[in-house]
Amino acid sequence: MRAAPLGALLALACWCAGAAAQLPAGPAQDVASIERGRALLANRHETGCVLCHVVPGFAAGGELGPSLAGVAQRGAAAQLRQRIADARQFNPHTIMPVYGNVSGLQSVAPAYQGQPVLSAQGLDDIVAYLMAVAR
Ligand code: HEC
Repeated sequence: MRAAPLGALLALACWCAGAAAQLPAGPAQDVASIERGRALLANRHETGCVLCHVVPGFAAGGELGPSLAGVAQRGAAAQLRQRIADARQFNPHTIMPVYGNVSGLQSVAPAYQGQPVLSAQGLDDIVAYLMAVAR
């Protein structure tokens, strides 16, 4: 595992309890794309998902979080999206970074302030991949 990208990601997120969970409103602009979702999942610098999760369709995966195998069967797409957007809604103490929310974050580098790690489109694309492949 490479330390720098994960460290950068963790700096973006603050897992302090009680942060207001305001998710980005509005639909994504494009039809969700499994291919784009796969690319986002694979991107260790932008998302780091595979640093912490075993993800179906990827040879290598991390073990800080649960395997995402079967995640498509554990709930609806909307719930999956919420988990990825802001895992604090389900566990205020989670170590999973916040991807779709900017409230309650601390120590965000100036260049990244005010923008979530993933756009609404990016969230939809990742959910499309997981709903199709992680069964
Ligand atoms: C720093 C490690 C880390 C990173 C990076 C990370 N996660 Fe997680 N994730 C976790 C942990 C730990 C959990 C367990 C839930 C908790 O902490 O409450 C989790 C839970 C989840 C769950 C719920 C799993 C279930 O069984 O219901 C999903 C879905 C998920 N992560 C997707 C993602 C996606 C997609 C990305 C990248 C955009 C990502 N995670 C990045 C650590 C991480």
